[in-house]
Amino acid sequence: MQYVLVSAPAKVNLALRVGAAREDGFHPLDTVFEAVDIFDDVEVTPSDSLEMSISGLGTDLPTDETNLVMQAARLLQRESGTNYGAHIAVTKRIPVAGGMAGGSADAAATLLALNTFWELSYTREQLHAFAAQLGSDVPFALRGGMAHGTSRGEVLEDLRTGMMHGWVILANPEGLSTPNVFAKFDELNPEAGEAASTAELRYYLGGDDLLSVGNLLRNDLQAAALALRPELKYYFDELGGVGAGVILCGSGASIALLCDIEQLHETTADIRAAFPELHVFSAIGPAAGAHLRQQF
Ligand code: C5P
Repeated sequence: MQYVLVSAPAKVNLALRVGAAREDGFHPLDTVFEAVDIFDDVEVTPSDSLEMSISGLGTDLPTDETNLVMQAARLLQRESGTNYGAHIAVTKRIPVAGGMAGGSADAAATLLALNTFWELSYTREQLHAFAAQLGSDVPFALRGGMAHGTSRGEVLEDLRTGMMHGWVILANPEGLSTPNVFAKFDELNPEAGEAASTAELRYYLGGDDLLSVGNLLRNDLQAAALALRPELKYYFDELGGVGAGVILCGSGASIALLCDIEQLHETTADIRAAFPELHVFSAIGPAAGAHLRQQF
């Protein structure tokens, strides 16, 4: 094979409820993921060795073995007992360190792309298991749509939604580190128990009542992210009452505003004008998970 192109989506969490850290250090989650139509691309071409490059956003990210893309490729080599090479070119559009699982999307896309390029024939279920080894958000990037996530986020159950959602994303040039935000959560919540339930939100997501969905957006990492980056509070204050609801994306530092698709264009333009220091763009969800777009 000469060329494979796979795209994988960004995600927002409509709810991210977090419990006390487990013995393995991960936190039990009760979360609702939604894939949105901002995609990173992974293009694979022949090479004797395994190597990667990055264009678009995040060109300062490492392209060595610490990158989740390389880890995904190495995992497939190990599992299949092969030593094939490939050049993996990543085009990033998902904000970096923005809580939108861009690195996880790249890893998910790499699994699917190399499975095709190296003709490994792993099933979706097997790829899901590999994805879970790479990171908590990688399985959802592979799956897409909308899903209820439990355990550390890798146990997924598809959710049906009664409507498409418009999102205005406010990406911050300065991201936040996920482990740091979880550590701050531990510090702020010494009495944390089990993760709170997202059942009510999931009930409303089946219908078309956007305001009720907006009222039930919750992110237990928001206070921790704001403690680390107090300047983010300004945006939440300014955006109060705009759209159906506002929430921090994952562990931050992007902010997502839920709005009616009919108003998405205008709301995005207004917010872009109000906050020129941020990278503001629109997205629609639910969107497809990692998918093969071209191969020859
Ligand atoms: O799974 P992933 O490698 O993406 O997680 C990155 C970091 O985020 C973990 O090392 C951990 O500090 C934190 N994390 C957590 N609980 C989760 C998911 C992530 O504490 N459920």
